[in-house]
Amino acid sequence: MTYLANRVQGFGTTIFAEMTALAVAHDAVNLGQGFPDFAAPTFLKEAAHAAIAADLNQYAPSYGRPALKQAIAAKVKRHYGLEVDPNHDILVTHGATEALCAAVLGLVNPGDEVILFEPFYDSYVPDVLLAGGVPRFYTLRQPDWAVDRAELAALFNHKTKLIVVNTPHNPTGKVFTHDELGMIADLCQEHDVLALTDEVYEHIVFDGRKHHLLAQFPGMAHRTLTISSLGKTFSVTGWKIGWIMAPPDLLAAAFRAHQFMTFCGAAPLQEAAVTALSTHDDYYMALTHDYQQKRDFLVKALQDAGLPPITPAGTYFVMVDISDLGFSDDVAFCRYLTTEIGVAAIPPSAFFHHPADGAQLARFTFCKSQPVLAEAAARLQRLRSAK
Ligand SMILES: Cc1ncc(COP(=O)(O)O)c(C=O)c1O
Repeated sequence: MTYLANRVQGFGTTIFAEMTALAVAHDAVNLGQGFPDFAAPTFLKEAAHAAIAADLNQYAPSYGRPALKQAIAAKVKRHYGLEVDPNHDILVTHGATEALCAAVLGLVNPGDEVILFEPFYDSYVPDVLLAGGVPRFYTLRQPDWAVDRAELAALFNHKTKLIVVNTPHNPTGKVFTHDELGMIADLCQEHDVLALTDEVYEHIVFDGRKHHLLAQFPGMAHRTLTISSLGKTFSVTGWKIGWIMAPPDLLAAAFRAHQFMTFCGAAPLQEAAVTALSTHDDYYMALTHDYQQKRDFLVKALQDAGLPPITPAGTYFVMVDISDLGFSDDVAFCRYLTTEIGVAAIPPSAFFHHPADGAQLARFTFCKSQPVLAEAAARLQRLRSAK
């Protein structure tokens, strides 16, 4: 007999848990799961200590601490020139993960269709299924992961409620271009569809590219929910401070679910987040610069090891094309790499609704300290002699 409710029967263990366990068992350098292994910024840790010492230890308001909402609005104005009302347009959540789930639960009815780009971040499909929605997939294909208008347009119909756009995109490292976002904006308006954007990597964009907000495209402000979080930008993924920016009617829908899922995120960390978001813009430039160096290092190491990388435009992930390496699929390759070579990566087939579409790819992360990346590079050289 199973105690599992029907709605969670199909949700297995995540691929991250499986690969991390294998990496630990084989003492592999873990370039699988995307969390930084280096210290969080000192000014941020001090701000968290100070908030706890000042006894900001009780529940935060369910929409978020006012000072944090103001800091989010001010940062968005500074970076993108977008006017956001901190009192009505922002909801602070327990990370972007909760924001995504609350928004989907608050907006999607059973039978509504939700367009997802695949490979997808792994919580999108469960969120849609929990709401009783029907995911429809647009498959991004290597090497440029470009979006074709006709192919995308074919997914829109009278049942479409929402499209989820993740830019910069995990796991491909794609940054949606201005033209692609314009195309999405046109289709949303043509079919009266809402957009949910996941922008947690908004500050990790390389080679002088620009991150564009879908909410800023003509006609999109009143139909877009913009989600971001502190974790990637400030190397504090364990803090789980996220937020949604949206017009009040859309925000209210997400809030209805949020109030009964978490009610609020950690109050002292929300206070520390104010300090984070008020930092000088030099911080963001240094972050991009550091990650670009790490990207270049890992891309070269992969190339040198005979693993053809697809250079990412953003995020801290790089995909590798394994089709010429002679493995049956990505899972077999990642198991081999972890157990025999001592470097763990993620098999991306878990991020496609037809796993075969990702079977010739592997995802590596470079959000690791330089010695760890150097050790991984040295171990990857073993692939040369292993052939
Ligand atoms: C695309 C994407 N969205 C959302 C999240 C989750 O963000 P958070 O840690 O703020 O919940 C991640 C984390 O890896 C991610 O890659």
